[in-house]
Amino acid sequence: MSIHIASIRSHFPILQQSVNGKPLVYLDNAATSQKPLSVIKAIEKYYSEYNSNIHRGAHRLAQLATDAYENSRAKIARHLNAETREINFVRGTTEAVNLVANTYGRKHVNLGDEIIVTEMEHHSNIVPWQMLCEEKGAKLKVVPVLDDGTLDIEAFEKLISERTKIVSVVYVSNSLGTINPVKHIIEKAHESGSVVFVDGAQALPHMRVNVRELDCDFLGFSGHKVFGPTGIGVLFGKQHLLEAMPPYMGGGEMIKTVSFSGTTFNDLPYKFEAGTPNIEAGIVLGEAIDYMNEIGLENIAAEEQKLLHYATEKLSEIEGLRIVGTAPEKSSVVSFLVGDIHPFDIGVLLNESGIAIRTGHHCCQPLMERFGIEGTCRASFAFYNTFEEVDILTEAVKKAAKILG
Ligand SMILES: Cc1ncc(COP(=O)(O)O)c(C=O)c1O
Repeated sequence: MSIHIASIRSHFPILQQSVNGKPLVYLDNAATSQKPLSVIKAIEKYYSEYNSNIHRGAHRLAQLATDAYENSRAKIARHLNAETREINFVRGTTEAVNLVANTYGRKHVNLGDEIIVTEMEHHSNIVPWQMLCEEKGAKLKVVPVLDDGTLDIEAFEKLISERTKIVSVVYVSNSLGTINPVKHIIEKAHESGSVVFVDGAQALPHMRVNVRELDCDFLGFSGHKVFGPTGIGVLFGKQHLLEAMPPYMGGGEMIKTVSFSGTTFNDLPYKFEAGTPNIEAGIVLGEAIDYMNEIGLENIAAEEQKLLHYATEKLSEIEGLRIVGTAPEKSSVVSFLVGDIHPFDIGVLLNESGIAIRTGHHCCQPLMERFGIEGTCRASFAFYNTFEEVDILTEAVKKAAKILG
């Protein structure tokens, strides 16, 4: 099956609107993706028909909500090729990183140990590790990025040693689109006895991710980037690691028994799910995963690669335009600068034509520093975008360059 773009677009009500009198051209998918009707309707159905707190409820609505929540967890486990108990619902990728840093990290990282990240990480995959290093007297080591936006793998291989306790690496860069060789990184890290956290925030929307095949120890992703709701995400962790980790937050749900003489903690995955979770979003995330699988991840990847190549070709024709991030393996992100025009000024003019792009440092200030820039204009494509939209973007950037140049 290939993608039938008109019917795909009809699944996304938000795409039907005009902005500033022009049809909306939504190219900010790396920040958050739009939601299909099946997802929107599932939210409405939950609140109209079976809203209830989950687990332990004897009544019908509690059973319906619990079943839907746990079915969604099982679905996500199948999607990642993980065990159901290895799927922990969290708020998003940011919380997944913080959870691992504060539990596994606090337990295993000590004075003089090292944690490796890369220069292209999102702030959420830098700051929690920096905080941990500060607390423990450990060192944060950084794998450099080459001029085309690929990782310097030779440098990584030199950095990794028996002092490395955790390697935390982004699968797909949100600001450059680079797809990193995470399987190779994981193999090397395991050879030196380190565990690996994979930031899957920008991978899950675009490709199949099989945690067993990768052999990653932890992986986090966000629901709102995979056509699902905000406020929900997933931390996958290998069962034996999760079992040996201390809990993250204390409260209801994560316990087996509580008394003032001591508390026993719940089994996986509830041990890491203190308090009433985002029930509706947990349920609906499963709906979003179903939607992606119905379209077909291979179809999604193929369509987006065509858009990426077309956009790269068209934008490159603009005088003075420079693409930041030209790695051979890329997802559908085009970061660019035009001459010395400030990216924000271009963003404002594009908005006048109904085009939504993101401008700025994309929560990757160290990466921007590495390229000696403050930020970029970023157009990020999803499978519901069209070649026509690439043409509209190109013409609008040309026009903006003329006005601002
Ligand atoms: C690569 C990457 N990692 C982490 C995050 C953080 O995700 P969230 O804000 O959903 O927790 C993002 C969000 O843009 C991202 O692109």
